[in-house]
Amino acid sequence: MTEDEHYFTADPTVAFRREPVTASVWGVDLTLDSGSGVFARGRLDGGTAVLFRETEAPSRGHVLDLGCGYGVIGLAAAVAAPAVRVTAVDVNERALLLARENAAALGVADRYRAELPEQVDPTTTYDEIWSNPPIRVGKQALHDLLQQGWPTTRLASAKGFRILETRRG
Ligand SMILES: C[S@@+](CC[C@H](N)C(=O)[O-])C[C@H]1O[C@@H](n2cnc3c(N)ncnc32)[C@H](O)[C@@H]1O
Repeated sequence: MTEDEHYFTADPTVAFRREPVTASVWGVDLTLDSGSGVFARGRLDGGTAVLFRETEAPSRGHVLDLGCGYGVIGLAAAVAAPAVRVTAVDVNERALLLARENAAALGVADRYRAELPEQVDPTTTYDEIWSNPPIRVGKQALHDLLQQGWPTTRLASAKGFRILETRRG
């Protein structure tokens, strides 16, 4: 398995070491634990940084953080706005463990759940879905995630990343 593939694995076998990440995003200062075998270990990902820079935090409602990694997007949303409730989803069990631990450390665990895709109630609806999507799943899967047919606007492009906003038509 290559270093790049690690974050994709549901049950990574590499030794698990936590590594703190500090980030100032959406007006909040966060200290989170990342970890080996989880996307963006020890750092805020460049694409996620662009996402934060080019958008405003959700202010209320039920937010889905799709592909949460160690949890930075959904946790930033929960910390930035007490009226936000977050469901975070990832295929990587370690990512979910870190996201839950981070939620507890930030004092938002009562408004934050982190689950495997198959644990999510498929009838649940969300006010907003936020994602730095897993591009390695391929174009078709990405298009499915973006719900083809919904109006998609490019909010910004920076450093090779595109920030897309998709709204129900
Ligand atoms: C680009 S990373 C973003 C992680 C985190 N949101 C961040 O900004 O640092 C994409 C994440 O999607 C997860 N992922 C991959 N396939 C997935 C799937 N089918 N369903 C949910 N999450 C998935 C990966 O494990 C990874 O943590």
